[in-house]
Amino acid sequence: MNIELLKSMCAANGISGDEGAIKSLILGEIENYIDDHSVDALGSLIAHKKGPGKKMMLAGHMDQIGLIVTYISKEGFIYFGRIGGMRPAYSLGQRFVFPNGTVGVVACERLDDPRDMPFEKMYLDIGARDGEEAGRQIKIGDVCVYSAAPVVNGGAIISPALDDRVGCFIMVEALKKIKAPAFDLYFVFTSQEEVGLRGARTSAYAVEPDYGLAFDVTISADTPKAHKFPSKMHGGAAIKIKDSSVLCHPIIVKHLEDCAKKAGIRYQYEILEAGGTDSGAIHLTKGGVPSGVISVATRYVHSANEMCALSDIEDSIELTVNALETPIA
Ligand code: CO
Ligand code: ZN
Repeated sequence: MNIELLKSMCAANGISGDEGAIKSLILGEIENYIDDHSVDALGSLIAHKKGPGKKMMLAGHMDQIGLIVTYISKEGFIYFGRIGGMRPAYSLGQRFVFPNGTVGVVACERLDDPRDMPFEKMYLDIGARDGEEAGRQIKIGDVCVYSAAPVVNGGAIISPALDDRVGCFIMVEALKKIKAPAFDLYFVFTSQEEVGLRGARTSAYAVEPDYGLAFDVTISADTPKAHKFPSKMHGGAAIKIKDSSVLCHPIIVKHLEDCAKKAGIRYQYEILEAGGTDSGAIHLTKGGVPSGVISVATRYVHSANEMCALSDIEDSIELTVNALETPIA
């Protein structure tokens, strides 16, 4: 597996609404494997690999969550709001990096009890002398993301951007491996998923797919006190049955199950109570699109240290290649 590519995809910039850097990296990687491509007005990259039969739209979101500057105090402390599902407990004490390289730490007063600490009591500290110095580096509306380089430990990878660079990586690697597609394939690297599946909505409208297949992270229920839940790290490719944005179409679920069984690929199921992904937007396009999702079980989703198993990524790539080379029965 191309771990270096996965790491560089995790390290690329791409907060929701500003996916340019990760998009150029992906395009450079796939250019020789596609027939044509376009970028829509919301920034999604739509790559077409011609094939026979019906149109299949694959979707992985390029964007990641982060913080947005709302106010700079005269003392030089920076107040912020959230882009996507940032959680206060995960943010406190972490480093965040702005596109210009400025690093700030999310801090709170020592006198505040960090239990149930809301974002309103926190601020970003870039070490500025005062508001004027802070304002030379950062302005209102600037955005930042967790600053943490991707790390591989044995069979696991840790990065704040696994959601959803891992999905984009699975698509890129599957695209390179496909020899005989059974569908007319649209690989869509979507924008703005974390703020409401927005890029998937506009790109699906343009593609008009017959089938949809998204790729994303999901919960891994294997930590000591986790809820009982079917997907776990090291458990294989996770075939989604539902989340709060989509009830996966039985035709797609069965197709994925059949392909996994036939090729002997390890798989598990995913049933997510809260949260959604791009298929939630794709399946509601026009008269409706039968859609499914391949997920990677990931611990600590939306933290600075999302963690997943390399073997699950490999199983997901293999399942994707099989599913795209096998016609839907
Ligand atoms: Co997410
Ligand atoms: Zn995601």
